Amino acid sequence: MATPLLSPAPLQVDAIRADFPILNQANERGQRLVYLDSAASSQKPAVVIDAQANYYRHDNANIHRGVYALSERATTEYETARKRVAAFINAPDPDTCIFVRNTTEAINLVAYSWGRQHIQAGDLLVVTLLDHHSNLVPWQVLAETQGAELAYARVTAGGRLDEDHLGRLLDREPKLVAMPHVSNALGTIVDVARWTRRAQAAGATVLIDGAQSAPHLPVDVAAIGCDFFALSGHKLLAPMGSGVLWGKRDRLDAMPPFLTGGGMIRRVTVDGTTWAELPAKFEAGTPAVGEAIGLGVAVDYLTELGMDRVRSHERDLTDYALDRLQRLPGIQLYGPDDLDERAGVISFAVGEVHPHDVASILAEENVAVRAGHHCCQPLMRELDLVATTRASFSVYNDETDVDRLASAIERVIEVFA
Ligand code: ALA
Repeated sequence: MATPLLSPAPLQVDAIRADFPILNQANERGQRLVYLDSAASSQKPAVVIDAQANYYRHDNANIHRGVYALSERATTEYETARKRVAAFINAPDPDTCIFVRNTTEAINLVAYSWGRQHIQAGDLLVVTLLDHHSNLVPWQVLAETQGAELAYARVTAGGRLDEDHLGRLLDREPKLVAMPHVSNALGTIVDVARWTRRAQAAGATVLIDGAQSAPHLPVDVAAIGCDFFALSGHKLLAPMGSGVLWGKRDRLDAMPPFLTGGGMIRRVTVDGTTWAELPAKFEAGTPAVGEAIGLGVAVDYLTELGMDRVRSHERDLTDYALDRLQRLPGIQLYGPDDLDERAGVISFAVGEVHPHDVASILAEENVAVRAGHHCCQPLMRELDLVATTRASFSVYNDETDVDRLASAIERVIEVFA
């Protein structure tokens, strides 16, 4: 019999906030910084900053090359980070986690390497209008170079995938389906395990953009069953320039390298080159060692908090924020109403006020949000929007941040009344 679901113990946000040195600042009016732009880039806890600094201070050397102590330590730390990331996303084999700079690079790796090997003229590729440009443009370029067709699954006015439309596209047996796990613009959570099963049953290879899910929900790539999963470290409490492409081993083994040169070879002669095994085959050149080490520490930090608790905290905070904001006059909230289908992203409009003006007034109140199309121009067009203002949460946000956001929006309403 199923055990009853208990809410996980709440996060201690004051203690978490103390782990993030950057949050300990105020503006000239003494207003504490309220950082609500973690969907763009999260802040980093001291343990991550220190891990990166310690590497440069004590262990900096190139990896997999030197026989001296520094290089051996650097190599061990780098490979330990890979194991930590693998555990975080439940990847069965750490060598199937390729370190890259960010989600964009991970998706480009697949589009160039797997894509050029498998996609031919006349093939169908399917993406969704919920996708970020980084999960659209590489497939547009691939479709163009290979003479393939690219189709976009539509989105409902409520910001959910149009299931009928996506179902009809799957009936056309696409070769690839790429979709986001969580929409960066609306916060919509996509049931990627279900869509992966359906897409694979239709014969597709499936790539999931996990940039906005890995920092906020428990992620289990084995349970999702996708072929590829991409994530960015900089949204996940880790340094800029760290990220991961995970792929099923048979996929990655069969793919040619994306970038070529040092570190990814087995043997080079004047007649040609053979490739190294995973993961080195896809990590050409000297990698961002300190950044990867920071990523390993960041995923351990989140694991220690517990991803179930993180999700539960951000769900409650989203609930509070939606309730608080919808009481404000003239406010328009976008994205799904159902909290089970929504991560901690609140996209909104304040009457006719331009989102950049909203964000500027919020900035004067020391509340940091993003305004714009959020790298989702086709989605904005589909929803008949030019831009939105977006507040997005992480583990260091709580209800006092939402209250500050609401008061700052009241100020916008006052100014533009
Ligand atoms: N992808 C990032 C965002 O949504 C930059 O803001």
